[in-house]
Amino acid sequence: MSDKAEIRVGDKVIELPVITGTENEQGIDIRQLRDQTGLITYDSGYKNTGATSSSITFLDGEVGILRYRGYPIEQLAEQSTFLEVAYLLIYGELPTQQEFSTWNEAITRHTLIHEDMKEFFEAFPRKAHPMGVLASNLISLSTFYPESLDPDREEEKINLTIKRLIAKISTIAAWSHKNSVGHPVVYPKNKYNYTENFLNMMFSVPTEDYEPDPIVVKALDQLLILHADHEQNCSTSTVRMVGSSRSNLYASVAAGVAALWGPLHGGANQEVIQMLEQIQADGGNMQKWIDKAKDKNDPFRIMGFGHRVYKNFDPRATIIKKSCDDVLGKLGVSDPILDLAKKLEYVALNDDYFKERNLYPNVDFYSGIIYKAIGIPTEMFTVMFAMGRLPGWIAQWKEMIANKEPIGRPRQIYTGPTERPYKPMSNR
Ligand code: CMC
Repeated sequence: MSDKAEIRVGDKVIELPVITGTENEQGIDIRQLRDQTGLITYDSGYKNTGATSSSITFLDGEVGILRYRGYPIEQLAEQSTFLEVAYLLIYGELPTQQEFSTWNEAITRHTLIHEDMKEFFEAFPRKAHPMGVLASNLISLSTFYPESLDPDREEEKINLTIKRLIAKISTIAAWSHKNSVGHPVVYPKNKYNYTENFLNMMFSVPTEDYEPDPIVVKALDQLLILHADHEQNCSTSTVRMVGSSRSNLYASVAAGVAALWGPLHGGANQEVIQMLEQIQADGGNMQKWIDKAKDKNDPFRIMGFGHRVYKNFDPRATIIKKSCDDVLGKLGVSDPILDLAKKLEYVALNDDYFKERNLYPNVDFYSGIIYKAIGIPTEMFTVMFAMGRLPGWIAQWKEMIANKEPIGRPRQIYTGPTERPYKPMSNR
């Protein structure tokens, strides 16, 4: 394909460069468009807009490819660990043995959170959604560690913030759960690895011994890897946008949590289980719910189905579906919700509406079934997604700062009233 594109506006023809990525993805570089024509582009929802160039994650939604720093997601999910993947995403290369042990030790040592923060958890209502608690506490960290607020500060300060965030998010997440059930919080223990430590803080109670089950540890670690990055999705773009004003990393990732919470994004995993339970309680008539999803006058959608970029299959969903069978089998859990999910997938995939629109199960369709099997409450599902996505948000924020990207500030096409004179209230 040519490395130039021509745009004709009236009689004027302008030439714009076409840029090509390392996987031969191409885009028209429109940075000169407004200067040369006075026009902007219009692309609601950024469906065709490349907001940045990035060397972190590659995905090809037509053929279902997902790679972190060039490594296929299937290999990472099978052979790596979440902390190793976090290092890869943030620093660009797989760590050596020495690098990993320094990284692992630093994360382990930073899991404790400031004792004063315990009062925050106690002050939240029991019914507080853990995503609200998570976002508030992540931004609160900025008040405890003000020395790392400036994103242009020395690299060491930023690296310390990165370690603190990855370490402390697991404690904050587990404590938000403990608060919701009215149990005393469990402090982190350095003898455990990252995922074991999280499970211990979630499930350990003063009245009983608890040892994390290796099957559960492996399953959860794999889920965290699968969620670790997904290029310019809604929450990641939010993190980059917030960070582009040179907001600190704590504030930027807290904004990412807020964006992830929505049911069209990370919040879908909670909605999937609630939807399946609703279908089950309603008698399990799949066709009725498929018809509701197809009815344009009904707001109902099959949650966990469809994706902005995957139009063939979501490779993460393929891995999770297989893992779902494995984990439930190994744990000896039989969940009728899994059978229901499989039936719903089968009916949807054979329906013309879903076929024509290339709607397939996404990462959220089966993940909730695994979370449920390992005892994680439904309201915590999106928190698990956030824990997994944190290294991706950090890597993307770091890249944006390193590239000295300008502040994000889209334009608009104004459609409101033209100028009109103000009328005093008595004349309206
Ligand atoms: N059930 C029924 N119809 C659907 C669904 C669904 N889950 N998803 C999309 N459609 C229809 C939609 O109504 C539209 O139909 P039409 O062309 O007749 O108007 C067509 O498919 C295209 O959908 P869209 O909403 O224009 O596509 P989008 O790229 O803007 O939205 C999506 C993508 C993920 C928000 C959407 O598919 C959806 O709402 N899915 C359910 C929520 C969900 O599972 N979200 C998690 C996404 S994966 C995790 C993550 O990374 O966030």
